[in-house]
Amino acid sequence: MPDHMPQSPEKREFIAKSKQFWNPAKTQAWQDMGVDLVIDRREGYLLWDMDGRRLIDLHLNGGTYNIGHRHPELIEVLNRGMQRFDMGNHHFPNQGRTALAEMLARICGGDMHYTMYASGGAEAIDIALKTARNATQRRKIVSIINAYHGHTGLAVAAGADRFKKIFLSDQPEDFVHVPFNDLNAMEDALKGRDVACLIMETIPATYGFPMPLPGYLAEVKKLCERYGALYVADEVQTGLMRCGEMWGYQRYGIQPDIMVTGKGISGGMYPIACVVAREPYAGWLKQDGFAHMSTMGGAELGCLVAMKVLEILERPTMRPMVNYIAETFRNGLHEIMKLYPDFFVGIRQCGLVMGLEFDYPEGAKPVMKHLYENGVWAIFSTLDPRVLQFKPGVLMTADLCAEVLERVERAVGLAHAECMERGRHKTRAA
Ligand SMILES: Cc1ncc(COP(=O)(O)O)c(C=O)c1O
Repeated sequence: MPDHMPQSPEKREFIAKSKQFWNPAKTQAWQDMGVDLVIDRREGYLLWDMDGRRLIDLHLNGGTYNIGHRHPELIEVLNRGMQRFDMGNHHFPNQGRTALAEMLARICGGDMHYTMYASGGAEAIDIALKTARNATQRRKIVSIINAYHGHTGLAVAAGADRFKKIFLSDQPEDFVHVPFNDLNAMEDALKGRDVACLIMETIPATYGFPMPLPGYLAEVKKLCERYGALYVADEVQTGLMRCGEMWGYQRYGIQPDIMVTGKGISGGMYPIACVVAREPYAGWLKQDGFAHMSTMGGAELGCLVAMKVLEILERPTMRPMVNYIAETFRNGLHEIMKLYPDFFVGIRQCGLVMGLEFDYPEGAKPVMKHLYENGVWAIFSTLDPRVLQFKPGVLMTADLCAEVLERVERAVGLAHAECMERGRHKTRAA
């Protein structure tokens, strides 16, 4: 670690234990990248490392902390809920689950009607894909190259090779991958009329938030309709007002057949993820309601939290607030970009879903490190490490936005200097 960030003996010992008992390679990878974060206290959009360092959270664990860490209204709902409920028994109708399903049907509108529950995003993706297979009686699933939908059986099969090969799961039949923003490739994949569904994130997060070209998503939806494939929208990162509408797909004027929401719907307080399907495509629920079961899926306490999250996000102040934060960062980051035009080369943005592009191999990693040293936690994109995921929360105050921009300016300057220096070394060595 850098000299100016000494670790306490307690932290050193803790990190050693994490390598010993938890996850050696992951723990070491963070040390190697200059991020020795061990998150301790958390409040709103602030984190405190176990050595007491304060960080502004712009990672939000993929939007899990969209409305902040430990939102007081969620704490209150959970505390109250625990006086009466626990996870519930997943075999029976229960109040929380049905009430949340009714709320989601209202919020999603149209004939988006039934909600199926999971304890996390990947499990929800599996349910969505199984639902599409049941509805179409087809097996094939199309997804985007370098997609990321989580790590369960079907979800990982729909994603990038990196996470499949290690578990010898890289040759599942019936999974086809096409490049993002390529309509010809999409049509080729669908035109055999043997595809159950296309699954895609509205804006692929782990691939660095490349923006859909104008009209792309609407055309993809039309192709799905033409060839009888369902459109499954993975809204795990783009939903819940992060794009300025409740669901990211609304920004692009499309209506999916099945939608998955996770992460932020839990408020980061009680694990839950949901699949919402149009009425005609949720046939298995009528055929055999026991066909998919999950003891912790739709835990009743999670349902109570999710309803409060949705209620907060539906408040009339929310949309203007998101627009304000989005504009503040758009303007501020463009100013910073002008200072380092040979390094900070692009801003991808849809509301608060943002990717900052750096013209340097794995350029987002040094930026991440310098941000970390300067009190901001934001993460590089795993499947395109030139791009830093920049994810402000929907309730960020004007003061905190200003503080972030100041710190980003400093960190980008330091990362720029470091990369230029490395470049000079390479030229000298050559
Ligand atoms: C877009 C997307 N879909 C699905 C998932 C899987 O969610 P979980 O980690 O809750 O299984 C993730 C997780 O990062 C995600 O980003």
